[in-house]
Amino acid sequence: MVDNHRAHSDPAHASAAGGVLVVGQIGRDLVISTDRVPDPGASVDVAERLEMWGGKGANQAVGMRQLGTPVGLLGVVGEDEVGERLLASARADDIDVRVVVRRGTSALLVDVVDAEGRRRLFEHVPAEALLTGGDVYSAREAVARADTVCLQLQQPEPALLEAARLGTATGADLVLDGAPQTPKVRALVGQARVVRANAHEGELLTGIALESEEAALSAARGVLDEGVEVVAFGVADAGDLVVWDEGHRFLPHGPQRVLDPTGAGDAFLAGLVTGLRNGAAPAQAGELAAACAASTVQRLGGRPDLSALRP
Ligand SMILES: Nc1ncnc2c1ncn2[C@@H]1O[C@H](COP(=O)(O)OP(=O)(O)O)[C@@H](O)[C@H]1O
Ligand SMILES: [Mg+2]
Repeated sequence: MVDNHRAHSDPAHASAAGGVLVVGQIGRDLVISTDRVPDPGASVDVAERLEMWGGKGANQAVGMRQLGTPVGLLGVVGEDEVGERLLASARADDIDVRVVVRRGTSALLVDVVDAEGRRRLFEHVPAEALLTGGDVYSAREAVARADTVCLQLQQPEPALLEAARLGTATGADLVLDGAPQTPKVRALVGQARVVRANAHEGELLTGIALESEEAALSAARGVLDEGVEVVAFGVADAGDLVVWDEGHRFLPHGPQRVLDPTGAGDAFLAGLVTGLRNGAAPAQAGELAAACAASTVQRLGGRPDLSALRP
């Protein structure tokens, strides 16, 4: 862990090789499950409440680590006591947080889930809780050390461009999750090995509504033509499609009850990256990814529990 203005020179830090670096959000995650969401002026009892470290970056990193992958995390936590606790939790999960930036107030995510498994997410992500290009440059040794760099496309453009520049310069595989917010971030697709998006994000990425397997296949083929090796797109309310040059595999949602969909995509990514990084064929990596997502929809909150699925 360093502050955002200091470059890294710890030799032990620089010598450890390999692993995944997840570039993304870290925050304090409060999850409340309730039978129903109250009308204005009314109140309801909370059935269950969880408080944990979370955010998409954290949840992806935790998932990968549970699957046996060495993981470092690059994100921002507050200079506050909450930030201290987030880092302690990350270390307890065996995530390398040496390049996590301390600044401002920690992000807060409040996930309210009703009895039908519908969630309402309240996100307080102060501007200082987002990564800057300078943050990423300061973490350049960690980027150089990683064999795989996972970028959450919700982060600001300068941070994403810098991470992609540094990662590709050292030959790391680039993995993109989410929808690009700007044309320059969209252009990173051509440098990525793996691109994953839910159905909505996939539509923003390709301009094609991913309402059927056929539509998702045609959209994904377009992305493969940009040089990507594996594309995983959600198909609305149906499943996920993993596509590579020579084939594709559709992974339908199983019959399991969805308690809370939060984090299922992040768990899917954790499985996909772990599988591919371990040398599995895309179809097998996709099977692992789908099992990770199916496990996570049955849990409250975005934090996965994938240890039993470790390959
Ligand atoms: N019933 C279900 N069974 C298994 N997986 C599901 C189910 N419903 C949704 N999913 C998974 O949830 C993912 C949602 O992705 P995404 O919206 O990116 O989630 P998040 O960003 O919260 O992790 C889908 O790609 C799919 O893998
Ligand atoms: Mg997602």
